[in-house]
Amino acid sequence: MYNSDIIVIGSGPGGMEVAAGALRRGLSVTLIERERLGGTCLNRGCIPTKALCSSASLMRAIGSASDLGVDVSSFSLDYNRVLDRKEQVVNGLRDNVAMMLSKAHIVEGEARFTDSRHVEVNGEVYAAPRIVIATGSSPASLDIPGADLAIDSDAILELKELPASIVIIGGGVIGMEFACILSAFGVDVTVIEYCKEILPGFDKDIAKRLRSSLSRLGVKIITGAQVTSIAPGKKVEYTVKGNAATVEAAEVLMAVGRRPVIPEGVEAAGINVERGAIVTDETFATTVPGIYAIGDVNARMMLAHVASAQAAAVMGDDINLSVVPAVAFTLPECAMVGLTEERCKESGLNYKAVKSLFRANGKAQAMGDTDGLLKLIVDVDSRLILGCHVCGCHAADLVQEAALAMSAGVTVDNVASAIHAHPSLSEILHSAAAACR
Ligand code: NAI
Repeated sequence: MYNSDIIVIGSGPGGMEVAAGALRRGLSVTLIERERLGGTCLNRGCIPTKALCSSASLMRAIGSASDLGVDVSSFSLDYNRVLDRKEQVVNGLRDNVAMMLSKAHIVEGEARFTDSRHVEVNGEVYAAPRIVIATGSSPASLDIPGADLAIDSDAILELKELPASIVIIGGGVIGMEFACILSAFGVDVTVIEYCKEILPGFDKDIAKRLRSSLSRLGVKIITGAQVTSIAPGKKVEYTVKGNAATVEAAEVLMAVGRRPVIPEGVEAAGINVERGAIVTDETFATTVPGIYAIGDVNARMMLAHVASAQAAAVMGDDINLSVVPAVAFTLPECAMVGLTEERCKESGLNYKAVKSLFRANGKAQAMGDTDGLLKLIVDVDSRLILGCHVCGCHAADLVQEAALAMSAGVTVDNVASAIHAHPSLSEILHSAAAACR
């Protein structure tokens, strides 16, 4: 039997952060990983998709370069080189992770709980007073005929050639990120989304803005539609407003959510699992003392930075887990923090919502990137920011100032009174804050 101070199962953003934090504190760490170091985020998620997104964004930028007085007589996509670069980025970051965790005892293989104190991997038993489950999630599928004809977000990253056309089932974050990447690469894209609007959970004005941007670029988006089956020949059958319809493409991507990956033996060890996720309290403790579950596996919020934040909290760091920015790395980006306007209305809050357009911003004009909208929502009585929602270039970075203000309990007046550099995109938030006065 192998003993250590802490066992971490899974090396994604959650497990990696726990292991690194434990090593910094001088603890002995056993880190168990069945695949490559870095988890979904590094190997099959955030990082490889953002590498593709950068190539896609450059394709778009070159396409409109002549607007900025730069004539590019011809350009083309070399998808093999796009894929090679994506691999280089991922491999480089994975080397950094390996270096950061070099003092951990890394065990390659599938972890299985034998009881509430012991974990077995490849016949060897490991024990520790503290065990952190950070096993992440895997792509979910629809229980419909022909579902196996579709590929998931893992498989699409491995395609060596781009399909001529694709139907994407699900207009959530993954569906819309791939819709943007693939359409910029010249693939004919159709998105079929069950809800009335794409990006459910985002503010409707933001989602609508992205939908119209993409529609202008030729992406077909069908909302309020339920996919019922996939017939041979990759014919996706769906119903919309009670009518049956079919759309055919060279490839079909299933992007209808993710489900937690629960290690074997968890329930026998006394750890509660409900609706497919490990049950945790606000300290991420499971129902067995000394065992924690962080990240996608507890299904509280399936975001890489949430997993890292939960990991830091488990290691005793002071983390504000109540304000969580979320970003869809679409083209243009969509980002949010706090309550949507729909949620404020439903909750009967006394709020004021102010919109600020990118086209009124000098820097956005100079950049030639004026397609964008920021919405700031403020509590009329407390003057605190309730939410900030952005669709436009650098939305992910723009929303962070509002996230900091919310996290620190700073009022909209404090934001308005702070000097923002000119010309900068940060003035888009500043002008919304000033208009709230
Ligand atoms: P999602 O839950 O965001 O979206 C799935 C979509 O599929 C929903 O809009 C849903 O209405 C739709 N859908 C379900 N059944 C359908 C049907 N029969 N026909 C048509 N549409 C249907 O899940 P997604 O995009 O797969 O992402 C999974 C998780 O990963 C999410 O929690 C997401 O936040 C996270 N993620 C975050 C990223 C980021 O922060 N940039 C990037 C990628 C994933």
